[in-house]
Amino acid sequence: MSETASITIDGKVHEYPVMTGTEGEKCIDIRKLRRDSGYVTYDEGYANTGSCMSEITFIDGEKGILRYRGYAIEELAEHSDFIEIAYLLIYGELPNREQLASISNLILGNAAIHEAMFHGFAGFPTSSHPMAILSAMLNSLGCYYPNMATNNREQDLEHLDVAATILISKVRALAAMTYRMKMGRPFIYPKSQLPYCSNFLHMMFSEPYAEYTASLRVDRALNLVFLLHADHEQNCSTSTVRMVASGGANLFASVAAGVCALWGPAHGGANMAVIEMLEAIHKKGDDGTRFVEAAKSGDRGERLMGFGHRVYKNYDPRAKILKAMSKRLFASMHIKDPVLDIALKLEEIATHDEYFIERNLYPNVDFYSGIIMRSIGIPLDFFTVLFAIGRMPGWIANWKEMATGKSPIHRPRQIYTGSVLRHFVPLEER
Ligand code: CMC
Repeated sequence: MSETASITIDGKVHEYPVMTGTEGEKCIDIRKLRRDSGYVTYDEGYANTGSCMSEITFIDGEKGILRYRGYAIEELAEHSDFIEIAYLLIYGELPNREQLASISNLILGNAAIHEAMFHGFAGFPTSSHPMAILSAMLNSLGCYYPNMATNNREQDLEHLDVAATILISKVRALAAMTYRMKMGRPFIYPKSQLPYCSNFLHMMFSEPYAEYTASLRVDRALNLVFLLHADHEQNCSTSTVRMVASGGANLFASVAAGVCALWGPAHGGANMAVIEMLEAIHKKGDDGTRFVEAAKSGDRGERLMGFGHRVYKNYDPRAKILKAMSKRLFASMHIKDPVLDIALKLEEIATHDEYFIERNLYPNVDFYSGIIMRSIGIPLDFFTVLFAIGRMPGWIANWKEMATGKSPIHRPRQIYTGSVLRHFVPLEER
């Protein structure tokens, strides 16, 4: 007999099916609860709510496990690269040689930006935050492909393969152009012979009179940063992408919304906040000890940025990989950065401190990703932009899953706590 769970409300017992995921995760299917009882559930922040069924990414936060399509993140980080992972996330399987060549060629062929879009950048003040520009530009990008951004599900899905490569390719060009515009530098065209990450760094840092060439190690480090950010289950921005998609919006509009959701310091903006925190600690001559005390007491609203996670109650496996990579990168580049020393010290203090142990607070991906990005010359306010480039395949895969499934529009309920009915008071009587 299939397992059920019963909920007693006002003395009446309601039975609901228990569903089991492929990794044994259990959930109670309460879709009929309101119809049966008139009650809804209250789960602010959705920490106990499964909003969808998904085959893309598996996380076991208690054990510190992350898998894309069943493959352990550690194995993928060691043997794969960002483009192969993008294919895996979107199509569900690792590509064979032909498939990999095809997606790589499409990404390369779509690297350039329509010149009319260049004017769009002129409309932004140079002080604009790059995440604001990126979101606006990704939405505008859809206007250049009206046949792929119709909000007609069938038609948008028909063009998804190409739309996906356009987004994966052009998000990087748009990011680089934003940087160039902010710096008052001319836009740099992509090069046909460069791989994904080196091409991005070329568009960021080359000058018409001086070529920037990324070393193999830097290309590999950035590949790893993108690969490790490529998907992370139903996080704030991915849930936003699915939410927007649930109303029938096209892929371009949905990922533009994802960028806005990612921007906040509790989500993608944390990588920037980590470096700001480490630099502030360094400036004050603290080795991290005083800051940890302030974060524990919540003084001045301090938090140890890059620590803690809604899902991981163990070491974030991505942080482990990036920590090792940052040490290797720094050694090979002969960099001695006091910020890395403070980060290592903070980790040492916090992971032995009762407060952090009790609350299962460990370093998350943002703790070390910022240190790596900083060492390859990415400016602070572009850290979250790089997170968005990395997360693009995950957003696309989730959009696709949503669009090909039968999910209804996402429309949660609320518990209304405002005034009960009252009557309009004319202005002169108020
Ligand atoms: N420093 C100090 N205390 C913390 C921290 C922290 N970074 N994170 C959580 N706590 C404490 C919190 O004060 C609370 O204590 P108490 O039980 O005494 O009230 C307890 O731990 C539980 O915290 P919570 O806010 O209920 O946990 P949450 O699951 O809602 O929040 C989080 C998760 C990531 C928003 C939070 O840990 C945080 O703000 N971390 C710093 C920001 C950060 O690094 N964000 C990046 C997340 S990873 C990238 C991504 O996936 O987007």
